[in-house]
Amino acid sequence: MKGEVRAFAPATVANVSCGFDILGFAIDTLGDVVRVKEKKEPGIQVVSITGDHGRLPLDPTKNTCAVAVQALLTELNRTIGLEIYLEKGLPLGSGLGSSAASAVAALVATNRLLGEPFEKKQLLPFAMAAEKIACGVGHADNVAPCLLGGFVLIRDYQPLDIIKLPVPKDLHCIVLHPHFELNTADSRAVIRDRIAVTQATIQSGNVAGLVAGLFQEDFELIGRSLKDVIAEPYRATLIPAFYQVKEAVLAAGALGMGISGSGPTLFVLTKGKDQIQQILEAARLVYYSFGLGVDGYHSSINTEGAYVLD
Ligand code: HSE
Repeated sequence: MKGEVRAFAPATVANVSCGFDILGFAIDTLGDVVRVKEKKEPGIQVVSITGDHGRLPLDPTKNTCAVAVQALLTELNRTIGLEIYLEKGLPLGSGLGSSAASAVAALVATNRLLGEPFEKKQLLPFAMAAEKIACGVGHADNVAPCLLGGFVLIRDYQPLDIIKLPVPKDLHCIVLHPHFELNTADSRAVIRDRIAVTQATIQSGNVAGLVAGLFQEDFELIGRSLKDVIAEPYRATLIPAFYQVKEAVLAAGALGMGISGSGPTLFVLTKGKDQIQQILEAARLVYYSFGLGVDGYHSSINTEGAYVLD
């Protein structure tokens, strides 16, 4: 067993509008880093967290890194001693898969430290156990693309059936992170328990359209499939300027826009990079007119997922 390993895990955009809880992709620009180090005494200790302004728990039963690593060790039936050091690169409560990135980086580092007893895909259930602690639901649409990179479809949860989708070379993403937080649990609470058959039909048509668009590299089809009748109409009420930003980015040349995960971050897809600056500018102007600051990032789609740094 190597003494210590550091790993990086990227930010992710879950749902991708029409794929509520079943679609997500990874981005390049942002992510978390976790260092896992052997210690003599058995048990998992979260030694330090930076970049969270003291808000995340060190308690190993509540910290997503520790919960994920404990699930991995339990599966292996091993009781060893590990120290965890978390460097948060992702803002909390942003909808960029912050809890997922911490858990996945910890798992990838631990797996390497132990000599890779698991393939990457096999780490998913451990990361999902951590998501359950973080937001009450063990959804996989952040952790799967975070681990594996690219666009990932969760065809089924029982049993887990994960499908990697192709990423068209010219597809780019912008994330718009307005300066406020939205808790995933609160953002899930506004969604209705039931939907009408007509809505289910619209939603399935768009998921199928998006998947077909990725396979066919049909950017127009990708753009017009970014429609969501399950979560967006309700979540948009929690996100100031949502419809105004959408109108502005579409007018500036975006293929489409939606809520990243549970929000408040929005994602925009573009063909190529030519319109990136004008889209960012158009979005900033709208946010400012609402008195809101925003961080806007351009990113390629990350096709690699989490990786060991050392
Ligand atoms: N699919 C989840 C949701 C993602 O929309 O609540 C949370 O990041």
